[in-house]
Amino acid sequence: MGFFLTIEGCEGAGKTTAKGVVLQWLKAVGHEFVETREPGGTPLAEQLRSLVLSEHEEIVTDTTELLMVFAARCQNLSQRIEPALAEGKVVVCDRFTDATYAYQGGGRGIDEQRIAVLEQLVQGDRRPDMTLLLDIEPELGLARAKGRAIEQGGSLDRIEQEAIEFFHRVRNVYLERAERYPGQYVVVDGGQSIAEVEASIIKALRARLGNK
Ligand code: TMP
Repeated sequence: MGFFLTIEGCEGAGKTTAKGVVLQWLKAVGHEFVETREPGGTPLAEQLRSLVLSEHEEIVTDTTELLMVFAARCQNLSQRIEPALAEGKVVVCDRFTDATYAYQGGGRGIDEQRIAVLEQLVQGDRRPDMTLLLDIEPELGLARAKGRAIEQGGSLDRIEQEAIEFFHRVRNVYLERAERYPGQYVVVDGGQSIAEVEASIIKALRARLGNK
């Protein structure tokens, strides 16, 4: 029942472009869908998102960060994701638990077994049916993310300010997971042209969701 599609990747990998392609295709084909993001997706989860991404005067422990992303996820799942799936809709979620394994596991170094305990607690057996991983060299992705922040007159958030090694670890975990779960992951080279990214995504969507 329903179809749970998540979009993942390092900063600047092209998730936003990918999401646009997915939503446009779903509309064209006539699938009913709900769009959400993590951390976020409900008013409370969006407040938790601001807390995760903003600077604090005190040290934010890795476990606190982990619990905040799972608290937000618990709200998003119960209020948005599960109800939409129960209605047979496609749910398009910009990041999900694979991001926790990549950022809190790979980036921060939290043991994956500790993450798995929370995953079970919050999600039970719920896992994405398909994950589009936009893969890019972290140097290139971060340069794009920085360019965008400057363009929009903003600044980098708490996580975007991490050292480049952090993002290499994030990427490695994503790629490891893509190898471990080939039935779930579709890896798209985010360094390709937009037309090539679009073609790869549509091919993957057709294979899993048909033309309806
Ligand atoms: P984004 O909207 O650009 O994807 O930003 C969300 C940020 O939150 C990004 O730096 C990744 C981070 N994040 C985690 O660290 N853990 C998580 O579980 C999720 C969903 C996101």
